Amino acid sequence: MLFGVIGAGQMGGGIAQVAAQSGFDVVVQDVRQEFLDRGRANIGKSLAKLHEKGRLAETPEVVLGRMRFTTALEDFAGCDLVVEAIVEQEAVKTELFRSLGCIVKPEGVLASNTSSIPITALATSSGRPERFIGMHFMNPVPLMGLVEVIRGYRTSDETARFVMDTAEQMGKTPLTCNDFPGFVSNRILMPMLNEAIQCVMEGVADKEAIDGIMRLGMNHPMGPLTLADFIGLDTCLSIMEVLHQGLGDDKYRPSPLLRKMVQAGLLGRKSGEGFYRYD
Ligand code: NAI
Repeated sequence: MLFGVIGAGQMGGGIAQVAAQSGFDVVVQDVRQEFLDRGRANIGKSLAKLHEKGRLAETPEVVLGRMRFTTALEDFAGCDLVVEAIVEQEAVKTELFRSLGCIVKPEGVLASNTSSIPITALATSSGRPERFIGMHFMNPVPLMGLVEVIRGYRTSDETARFVMDTAEQMGKTPLTCNDFPGFVSNRILMPMLNEAIQCVMEGVADKEAIDGIMRLGMNHPMGPLTLADFIGLDTCLSIMEVLHQGLGDDKYRPSPLLRKMVQAGLLGRKSGEGFYRYD
């Protein structure tokens, strides 16, 4: 199986790594060589860590040997499955799938790792809605067990079966839902993170107390502000905007503090600062 991944960021890098660990040949594409170099280095580090802990069946070099990095979309022509993991912006994804639909062989399946953008709309732009699906991996991909599989309005049963089987071959548990704003995971998670940010803004408690209360009181492995930093505040804002537009209710309105932090370039862990600082 030839497995394509678009975007060598946090998620694309993780998906490509797990696909290669599972024995698939993988092509990874990004817009600039420096993004590919950074993605490759991150994958190398993650594989080295797993190897050290004895959790990798092969050496990191053998796994990396199954991966090819490119800036050319044309290199996806022969792929059986392409998973997109680029910025969470509908117009950018739509444009990409329009091109990809003409490049990938007709029987190839296209999938999006989007956190919230309607799968049905992306499927239409690809020109192959029956062979289009949402394949929503969790962060960090090498460690998290779930793949949320989102069926678009015209996704075929065969496509759904194929990606469920592929997710299982990657050692993940696929669970299916239908195409509604935020799907299941972010419809439930993201309003909680947004509310935690609103608590910071209103001075309900300081950020350490908010995180501590949710961690110790609700037994969450990570406080909501730490998790928002980890996901990326830009991604959190985009998801809240999709929920707000798609579901209408004011309870989904993005916190003004979240918007302001994104405007200020404080995107969380990936930019070095969000609610907390990262070296
Ligand atoms: P990121 O910012 O770490 O990586 C995005 C990558 O896509 C960058 O390397 C960028 O150069 C590249 N890119 C942008 N436009 C491109 C294009 N037109 N063609 C090829 N590459 C392009 O973002 P991250 O966090 O990896 O998110 C990617 C997707 O995964 C988003 O749709 C996000 O909603 C989704 N997601 C994110 C999660 C998270 O916890 N961060 C969890 C699950 C899904």
